[in-house]
Amino acid sequence: MAKYLVTGAAGFIGRSIAAALLERGETVRGVDNFATGKRSNLVGLEGMEFVEGDLSDAAVCERVVAGVEIIFHEAALPSVPRSVEDPISTNTACVDATVQLLWAAKKAGVRRVVYAASSSAYGDTPTLPKHEGMLPAPISPYAVAKLSGELYMQSFWRVYGLETVCLRYFNVFGPYQDPTSFYSGVLAKFCTRMMAGETPTIFGDGSQSRDFTFIENTVRGNLLAAEAPAEKVAGRVMNMATGSRITLNDVVEELRGITGYAGEVIYGPERNGDIKHSLADIGLAKELLGYEPVVEFREGLGRTVEWYRETEQQG
Ligand code: UD1
Repeated sequence: MAKYLVTGAAGFIGRSIAAALLERGETVRGVDNFATGKRSNLVGLEGMEFVEGDLSDAAVCERVVAGVEIIFHEAALPSVPRSVEDPISTNTACVDATVQLLWAAKKAGVRRVVYAASSSAYGDTPTLPKHEGMLPAPISPYAVAKLSGELYMQSFWRVYGLETVCLRYFNVFGPYQDPTSFYSGVLAKFCTRMMAGETPTIFGDGSQSRDFTFIENTVRGNLLAAEAPAEKVAGRVMNMATGSRITLNDVVEELRGITGYAGEVIYGPERNGDIKHSLADIGLAKELLGYEPVVEFREGLGRTVEWYRETEQQG
């Protein structure tokens, strides 16, 4: 019987959490509907019990939560522009599925749910760094959907006593992030394109900045959130990031150095629903979880390029 459930286990973040749990010798169940997750991401996770299914289906939720003590809820339909194109699918995958999962978890007596919340909740507020005391101001349907999930988490803690911890991820990147979709995260795209000598396109003038967070930091934060005492973390929302930011123009310069790309960069129109700057205050996660980022941006970027090179990924 699995102690941990990882939803979205065939996705980039889910598979990384599952791998870390297996490495610790834990019993793990994973679920994924392969909407954006990939079967190839399950290679190396043979020790995990895997269920293929969609969490918007109550029967799937009931099946996967059975006997579990802690859930890492990573399943979602990521991407701001995807949600602008198709808000209904984003809502189904991020909101409906989350409520179904929570309801099944509550009925099955699951103790804790650690939720992949998003920095997009802050919207385009000019104040930097973003801290959890700020009023949410989501812009895109994606941001609204992820924030709704947070509110459900808090409700289930308040109403049913299900321990929930929301980690607001800031632009996670690293090995296993899919570079092939139009909706892929910018670093997955830029790393693989520039490695292949192909021109990256920056949407806007490239002065936008992000608190890009290497996956190992995110995984570490999740494990800490699963272990922290309920008195400290249940019902809480906290940023999960590095506390530093870099502009896209500077990212491209870094990548020129790492990949040897000497070609041009195309500048296109700014993306609808985009936000300008994103930077986290990580003080709360430090205080409540004892979290510290362990891999800084440049090292993470180098390791990511190395991984794409070894696995011969094409953007
Ligand atoms: C947003 C959230 C992030 C969440 C992610 C899920 C914010 C600040 N961040 O990321 O927490 O995990 O959604 O998908 O809201 N870009 C280019 N060229 C490209 C692709 C992207 O210039 O080919 C630009 C985008 O316009 C944007 C930046 O790169 O300004 C980052 O884009 P992306 O990687 O899609 O992530 P966010 O939308 O910032």
